[in-house]
Amino acid sequence: TTKPIPGGREVLVEFDDGIAWVQINRPAKRNAMSVGLAQEMNEVLDALETDERCGVIVLTGVGEAFSAGMDLKDFFRATDGLGDIERHRAYRATRAWQWRTLMHYAKPTIAMVNGWCFGGAFTPLICCDLAIADEKAVFGLSEINWGVIPGGVVSKAIGTVMGDRQALYYVMTGEQFDGAKAVSLGLVNEAVPKERLRQRTTELARTLLGKNPTVLRQAKLAYKYSREMNWEQASEYLTAKVDQTNFVDPERGKEQGLKQFLDEKTFRPGMGTYTR
Ligand code: ACO
Repeated sequence: TTKPIPGGREVLVEFDDGIAWVQINRPAKRNAMSVGLAQEMNEVLDALETDERCGVIVLTGVGEAFSAGMDLKDFFRATDGLGDIERHRAYRATRAWQWRTLMHYAKPTIAMVNGWCFGGAFTPLICCDLAIADEKAVFGLSEINWGVIPGGVVSKAIGTVMGDRQALYYVMTGEQFDGAKAVSLGLVNEAVPKERLRQRTTELARTLLGKNPTVLRQAKLAYKYSREMNWEQASEYLTAKVDQTNFVDPERGKEQGLKQFLDEKTFRPGMGTYTR
């Protein structure tokens, strides 16, 4: 029996040889993010984490938007009238996928910014490990334009990739910028013409799929957790993490790498991955 494909309503998933394309599917609303979308995304991310068809996630949007941010009607207006506990529960569903889950996800994640990217959309964008944008994609911290501050966790998230001057400039002006500018701000890795966007994202995903998945997971977690520590703690933690990685790696990657380089002289780590 074939495993059912998760999502199918406001989140579409397509598998392509190890890549799970996770697409926000509200194109008529420019992929604005509602409470319902958050609930479905939580189910999808949870299912994909242990689905062997998924080695890498690409998060993107159907149609002309990556995401026009939080749905002002179905996220804000719809929850404004709720009691405090109910409102907190609705917000919790969004927090869960947009940063708690994505930030430390067990598989590599790439955001592919295919178009409009506003406000709340910065959080999942930044919490994906890597990001590639259409060079003409339009980004904006538009909160100030409609009378709110970058809330959720947007203000916190932008500070992890953008410098204070740049972040405050866009927080305070709400000015738009394009994909090419997003590269210089540190918000995305690369910006490419629209016609090359999917191809370049696929190439990057394939590079990640070629690596030892256990070590890849540990490497990104080690980077993200150690960022929050002081030097002494980070040094102790990372040394222990190297040992833990070795211990949990079914592929025995470190042994393989050392053997192939030092004994067999069949590969050079500076030039590419060991033979798996
Ligand atoms: N929340 C709710 N509905 C939205 C959102 C949103 N964030 N973005 C777009 N929509 C809806 C529109 O209301 C419209 O709905 P309707 O067809 O039922 O009237 C539909 O999507 C299409 O929107 P248009 O504005 O007609 O599309 P257009 O292509 O002209 O413009 C753009 C796209 C620039 C993205 C525009 O829709 C826009 O400015 N959206 C809001 C962007 C924003 O500031 N988001 C909030 C960020 S702050 C935060 O996330 C906390």
